Amino acid sequence: MMSKNVYFQRTYGNGILCFALDLCALCDLVFFYMSNSQPLSIFDKLRSASNAFWFFIRAHLRLKRRGYSEVSPLETPFVPEAQHFNTKYQFTELGVQLFPRHWIRNLATLWILEQMLEGESWPTPLKVLEPCCQDFVRLPAIARYFLTQNTKPHITGVEIDAFVPLEGFHSRWDHAEYYRSITPAPSEYKAQDFFKFYEPADLIICFYPFISPAPALAWGLPAAVASPQGWVESFLKNLKPGGRVLVVHQGDWEEAEFDKARAGSSLQIIRRKALECPFFPSKHPMHATFYVGD
Ligand SMILES: C[S@@+](CC[C@H](N)C(=O)[O-])C[C@H]1O[C@@H](n2cnc3c(N)ncnc32)[C@H](O)[C@@H]1O
Repeated sequence: MMSKNVYFQRTYGNGILCFALDLCALCDLVFFYMSNSQPLSIFDKLRSASNAFWFFIRAHLRLKRRGYSEVSPLETPFVPEAQHFNTKYQFTELGVQLFPRHWIRNLATLWILEQMLEGESWPTPLKVLEPCCQDFVRLPAIARYFLTQNTKPHITGVEIDAFVPLEGFHSRWDHAEYYRSITPAPSEYKAQDFFKFYEPADLIICFYPFISPAPALAWGLPAAVASPQGWVESFLKNLKPGGRVLVVHQGDWEEAEFDKARAGSSLQIIRRKALECPFFPSKHPMHATFYVGD
């Protein structure tokens, strides 16, 4: 008869780690089928299980280390279109406190906000949510855009994976704290799952939510976090009456999946555009839509 030990080794191969991965795979599969997403290949299921395991570890370690900062040389060369936005939004005083690649990303964010929100009037104070904010690097631009519109914005970033270790053992959390410290508007950064979040806002701005499993897997997260239905419901739940949502998708296929989930909901299109920023080329075509809730 097989001893308990032999049975354990045969069943779980390399021991405890595989056992943990199996458990994660099990949990992930349960969530996966509960969330009614598209089917995954065996390879993606394993990848999802491994992502779930490391995500769990990061979320519990909560890596934070003070002292993150950025700086740019004053004469960072930008093409004229970018210079125009820099001057219009008096962004140099913020830009010099960012790495050049983050400075230009913020100028591109201002460009996107102009493309999508121009002509809107805003209440003041204005509560803005940015779910999926990663390290909150777009915060300076979002704040500056609304300050220029003579509103008093309060901006809350929500990120499910806030403790990813980055260069110098800093995490996304540390980066976010830095961007908050240089931004001239009140803000908060919440390490939370937006699907479990409830703080109704006047405006939600969301860049690249995970709608399909492949991008979630590529970003080191379990496949189950990608849920078009989850995003539609969470946007609606977090809107004040008459509140608005700006969503930018990475490609038309993600937009189409989102639309399927949105059908029959009260999220109605105000404006929709395929965007290509002239000074910040994007790997994936940007598909942006501005919605109103109830
Ligand atoms: C493609 S990245 C977008 C990054 C950033 N918004 C940008 O503009 O580049 C998607 C981000 O959303 C986060 N995310 C995914 N699901 C989430 C959820 N349910 N709640 C909060 N953040 C989530 C991921 O961890 C990741 O940082």
